[in-house]
Parts: sequence; C-alpha cells; structure tokens
Amino acid sequence: MNTIYLVGFMGCGKTSVGNQLSKRLGVPPYDVDSAVEKLRGQTIKEIFYREGEEAFRNYESLAIRQLPLEHAVVMTGGGAVIREENLCYMKNKGIVIYLKTSFPVLWKRLMKEEERQKRPLLLTRKKEEIQALYDERRKQYEQCDIEVNTDELTTEEVCH
Ligand code: S3P
Repeated sequence: MNTIYLVGFMGCGKTSVGNQLSKRLGVPPYDVDSAVEKLRGQTIKEIFYREGEEAFRNYESLAIRQLPLEHAVVMTGGGAVIREENLCYMKNKGIVIYLKTSFPVLWKRLMKEEERQKRPLLLTRKKEEIQALYDERRKQYEQCDIEVNTDELTTEEVCH
C-alpha cells in the first residue's frame, strides 16, 4: 500500500478520517502537528507565538519528511500545502487526498471555542480573513490526486 496523505482546510476532519482510515487499512496513523509538537517539546500555539509562523512551517516541512514509517495514513495540518515542495514531495511518496468541505460547514465547526483555541491562525483573524485564506488555499488543495466532498458525509462514509 502507498502512504496516504490527507490534506484540507482546518476543521475538514483530517484527524477523525485519518484515525478511522488507518484502522480500516491496518496501517499506523501519523499526525504531522503532533510530530512537530514532539520535535519541539511545545504546542503548536506556543511555537506560533514564540517563534512565528515561518519557523512552524519549517518544522512542519521537516515532520512531513521525517515519517518514520514505510506505510501510513498521514494527517497533515491545513497549511502543509502552502509550500509547493511539500505537495510535490507527498505526491511523489504516495496518494494525496483532499477532504473538501465548504466554508460555511467549516466555519460552524471552527467557531466552537475549543476548536478556535487549538489554532493560532483563528485567534488572530476575522471571519473574512479566514474565508480569504480558504479561497487562497483551495488552488493548492485542488492539485491533489483525489478529492472527496465531505459536506454531506459522515466520517465513516468518507472512509469508504
Ligand atoms: C494550520 C492548521 C493546523 C495547524 C496549525 C496551522 C493552518 O492544523 O497545523 O495551526 O495553517 O491551516 P489543522 O488543519 O489540523 O487544524
């Protein structure tokens, strides 16, 4: 089996789909954000505040390349595709699946306080700015190998 990379905007369900898919396929899950936190001994929020977004992006790129497994389901962070070279790397190594979710559906999820608190980008931007980020990133997500529309689907259905 090829490694599967899940990409998509914050809140699209990469973590829940990734965990369930890895069980179904019998391969380990690899969460890029968790790998960055382990690498730095800090939370994503702390890294953003102490070292800035650019430093975070460097660690994120490193964690994508330091996958300690031959086959895995990789859950990337929503901004992993900002760097073109990350997307190329993932496409070379495996299959990149875009979990496509419309902005209104994402926004409903991301507005929950516990979701907002986990994500430094949401704490410093207004709704229109997040929407602009979503529109900007769509072009990159759309370069993936496979697109799955998740709006009307449960996690279970997405994994099928
Ligand atoms: C980010 C998404 C987050 C995390 C970081 C930056 C982004 O991951 O990597 O806060 O730039 O979209 P999730 O997509 O899992 O929330």
